[in-house]
Amino acid sequence: MMKTTILHGLSIAGLALLAACQSPSKPAQTAKSSTKTKGAVDAAKVFDAHCMACHGSDGKSKTFPGFFTGATNLTKPAWQQKTTNEQMTSVISKGHRMMPAFENKLSKVEIKALVVYVRHLKSDS
Ligand code: HEC
Repeated sequence: MMKTTILHGLSIAGLALLAACQSPSKPAQTAKSSTKTKGAVDAAKVFDAHCMACHGSDGKSKTFPGFFTGATNLTKPAWQQKTTNEQMTSVISKGHRMMPAFENKLSKVEIKALVVYVRHLKSDS
């Protein structure tokens, strides 16, 4: 009697892919309509350059690194409602779990502009 060997193909190789998320962000190439704020910071451009890899250009975080890091869907009304601008500023500046800190990469003005930008990502449904 022959027994079929079941190969346990599933591995934690996926974890290795996490390392790929750490690659330096490429300059954004998407030609989007500019969303300049008072401080002449183009928040859309900053978002695409530093945040899009995980959060997606639409903020829904349906990206590969976004999936592996468990990135927040920034468009969710429930999340938008319970999160204050102060909380967002703090998380973007200092980081939280898999969310990297940006206080050394972006200026305070840029981070402020990103908070406003993230507010605009809110979906209606
Ligand atoms: C390496 C992937 C990655 C990148 C790049 C990244 N994020 Fe995140 N982000 C995450 C993860 C993961 C979380 C969820 C953190 C947690 O578990 O609390 C998160 C959470 C957030 C939150 C929610 C914080 C809260 O209070 O719930 C905001 C806002 C946010 N990110 C904004 C940004 C902005 C703006 C940028 C670009 C400057 C950015 N993220 C770049 C992975 C990323």
